[in-house]
Order: sequence, then C-alpha cells, then structure tokens
Amino acid sequence: HAQDVAAGEKSFNKCRACHQVGETAKNSVGPELNGLFGRKSGSVAGYNYSDANKNSGITWDEAVFAEYIKDPKAKIPGTKMAFAGIKKDEEIKDLTAFLKQFGAD
Ligand code: HEM
Repeated sequence: HAQDVAAGEKSFNKCRACHQVGETAKNSVGPELNGLFGRKSGSVAGYNYSDANKNSGITWDEAVFAEYIKDPKAKIPGTKMAFAGIKKDEEIKDLTAFLKQFGAD
C-alpha cells in the first residue's frame, strides 16, 4: 500500500469539524494544521492550547504524529482534543501524505 493522498483527503474529513488546512486555513476548535511536520507542538500563534499540548515537548514528525493520532490522549495526557484516534496504520500513512502537502506558507 503506497501513500494515497486522495484517501488521506477522505480521512481528513474526520478532522474537519475542528481543523483547517490550505491557503485559507484558520484556527477554529483546533489549531490550523499547515506546516505541521517540523513544527513544535503548541506553537500556532493565536491558538489557545492546553498546557498539556503546549508543554508536550513534541516536534511533529511522521513517527510521532502516527503515535499521537492513533491514541491522542495516550500520547498527550490532558490534551483537549476530543478525538478517539485513527487505528489503521495505512489510513494514518494516507492522512500523513495528505497533510504533508500543506507547508507553513
Ligand atoms: C490538536 C491533528 C481531529 C480538536 C491537534 C494537534 C494535531 C491534531 C497534530 C496538535 C497541533 C499542535 O500541536 O499544533 C488532528 C487530526 C485529526 C484531528 C489529524 C483527525 C484525524 C480532531 C477533532 C477535534 C480536534 C475531530 C475536535 C473534536 C483538537 C483540539 C486541539 C487539537 C481542541 C488542541 C489540543 C490542546 O490544546 O490540548 N490535532 N486532529 N482534533 N485538536 Fe486535533
């Protein structure tokens, strides 16, 4: 199974209630996710993070994102992200490929 951006875009529908990506992305329930890979957790300007997220010490790369999105509350205890997670490794890979399209600017 190669990374599949189109499948990842579908998977991102699970996130859209709370997160935006792309040129017009703004913070909403959750922070905007442009430029996620390489940025420090809790670092989007103007977004009011929990202390748990802000102080997690994570820099988002593919490996740590995969752990997090599988079980957000296990990876960041105290996160206010109310999402059970995505359990399938292939879906996480596709979602990652989709999100990597959106750089910081
Ligand atoms: C935080 C991804 C679904 C609400 C985050 C962060 C990531 C992320 C990577 C940390 C961002 C950072 O440190 O800058 C995703 C993805 C999702 C998803 C890929 C779908 C697969 C959701 C949903 C909700 C949500 C459905 C709302 C019900 C939040 C909130 C935060 C957050 C409120 C901030 C957490 C805090 O400050 O404790 N999300 N998320 N997310 N997300 Fe999500």
